[in-house]
This record gives sequence, C-alpha cells and structure tokens, in this order.
Amino acid sequence: MSFKTIEWRDDKVIMLDQTKLPHEEKYNEYSDFQGVAEAIKTMVIRGAPAIGVAAAMGIALGAKDIIADRYETFYAQLNNICNALGRTRPTAINLFWGIERMKKVAEANKEKDLNSIRALLKAEAISIENEDLQICKALGRHGASLIKEGSTILTHCNAGALATAGYGTALGVIRAAHEAGKKIKVFADETRPWLQGARLTAWELMKDKIPVTLITDSMAGWFMKQGEINCVIVGADRIAANGDSANKIGTYSVAVLAKENRIPFYVAAPISTLDFSLKNGDKIPIEERPIQEVTTIQGKAIAPEGVKVRNPAFDVTPSKYITGIITERGIVRGDYEEGLKKLVGK
Ligand code: MRU
Repeated sequence: MSFKTIEWRDDKVIMLDQTKLPHEEKYNEYSDFQGVAEAIKTMVIRGAPAIGVAAAMGIALGAKDIIADRYETFYAQLNNICNALGRTRPTAINLFWGIERMKKVAEANKEKDLNSIRALLKAEAISIENEDLQICKALGRHGASLIKEGSTILTHCNAGALATAGYGTALGVIRAAHEAGKKIKVFADETRPWLQGARLTAWELMKDKIPVTLITDSMAGWFMKQGEINCVIVGADRIAANGDSANKIGTYSVAVLAKENRIPFYVAAPISTLDFSLKNGDKIPIEERPIQEVTTIQGKAIAPEGVKVRNPAFDVTPSKYITGIITERGIVRGDYEEGLKKLVGK
C-alpha cells in the first residue's frame, strides 16, 4: 500500500487526513486521546474498522497520561477516556468493540503495576491494527471466489484501505480479485453527501491501477437496468443477528435496485462488525450528521439558507436483499441467523 491510514509511531498516532483527500495527502499527528476523539468525530479517519483501531490507539495514548498511584483510580480515568471515545460516532460497532477489547486488557492485568498495564494497552492497540490488515486479506480471498472474470462491480461509499488498517473489506474483495488476475472493473457511487466514493474510493482504486468509473448515486439503477453491472459489494458498520446490515446512507436503495435487476448484492465485513445483541436492524443507532454536509459542497452553499434538512449518515439494508455476507471466516448465505452464529461458534 502506498499510503498508511493509521499507525502508531514514537508514541504518537499518525493518521492520513481523509478530509483533505483527494487533493492533498496530509498526515496528522496526535499525542492525546482528545485529539483522536476529535479526528474520529470530524472524519479525519472514518470507516468502521479504522475507527475501531483509532479508538484503541486513543485509549493507549490516554493511558500514558493518566496520573494515578493505584489501579482503581487508573481504571476510573481509563473508563472516562473510553466513554469520551465512545461518544464520537454511534453506528459502527467496531468502535465499541475496540474500546471493549482495550478495557478487558486493563481488567485482566489489574494485579500488574500501572506502567506494565500502559505497555500492554499500547501493544493491544497495535495488534488490533495488525490483525485488521490480516482479517481484510482473508476476507478478500474468500470474497474473490465470488467475482467472475470480466465483472463490473458496483460499490457504495468507501470500504477500502482508507476505512480499515489497510486493504479494505469491499475493496479488499475487489483487490484480491484484481491481484488474482481477473479483469474486473469498478463503478463507484459518489456517495452524497460526504462523497466517500468520489473523494476516497476513486482515489484509492486509481492509486492501485484498478479500473474505476465514478457515477453519481442516482445513476446506479440505470446502469443496472442496462446490464452494465454484474454485482454489488459494500461494507457494513453494524450487522444484526439476522443479517440486517447498516452501511452508508444510500446502500439500502442500491440493494433494492440490485434485487429488482437480479444482481447479487454482497456485504463484506469482519466478525467485529457483528452485533448479536440486536436481533434485527431496527434498533441500530443511526448517526445524524451536521446539516452543512447537505447544504454545502466544499464550503459552497447549494441550498437556500434556512431550508429544513435531514442528514442520516447510515441506513439499514434488510437481510432479504443480501445475497451473501463475506467475512474473514467465510461466506454466509441464506439463513443468516444460523450461519452467523455458526461462524463465531455460538
Ligand atoms: O461515515 P463513514 O465514512 O465512516 O461510513 C463508512 C461506511 O459506511 C463504510 O461502508 C463502512 O464503515 C465499512 S468500512 C470497511
């Protein structure tokens, strides 16, 4: 990969600033958890697995600065840091998964001295990052088996290296198919309002020389009807026990259009995106973002001042529209409730 989404270097967290792409490749440096929380909130870093890694690294940074002389006071402050990071974005469960994993490390080592706990937290955050990259590669290999030679694949938002520790989920499948020598093409929805497709997916695929064509969201149905799209692959921010999947706003419309046009619609996500506490997608918390994301483009107003606006950042695709869920442990189809449970050994 010719860029690094996030990394731990010299006790600092370095992130590629995704608000500046594709115009500028700028790396920001964070030395405290407040900076990392702000970076997640303002989408310097975004994408479910990537914000899980960022939260874990934020906790490791925060732990370094805690002033305490015994475990109980240390843990109380660590808990406050976790809560602050947990308030940044509500939909992607990977964020909370990362936070829980870090908390468990502290809890399991409470008998150790505080500096050892700090070192273990840092090691855990770095291994979450390394594991995520391996998970994406495994997921990519499984998913590539579904991609036929010569396919044109539609994707929505950015579920790529920029949304993970590297390689990507939906784009991981596409990368793996491309690396296997399949002649594939990608159609990227621009993904209004934040334009993850136009700004990030197009940039990332062009960097890897994977053929990509940018379309506006409203064009997807027409290209499907014209027979120009062979399958759809998207990522996910949270998958309920029955397979209902939350992903970037607009994903639901794409899924319905795919079914209408008899095009397979796949969701690619790591196991850490599964939320077995929710039996279906009805209760997945949907983030509402600032209205300026809708009323302006690159700072320029495109709507009358004072107009009423809604801006949900995600929607939920019912599992009946999903042809298969691709994970690092294999592909689940049909009865998701059963299949997903089996996958994690429940
Ligand atoms: O608001 P974002 O950019 O964080 O939304 C990202 C998505 O919806 C992705 O598709 C999802 O997180 C999967 S990323 C591998």
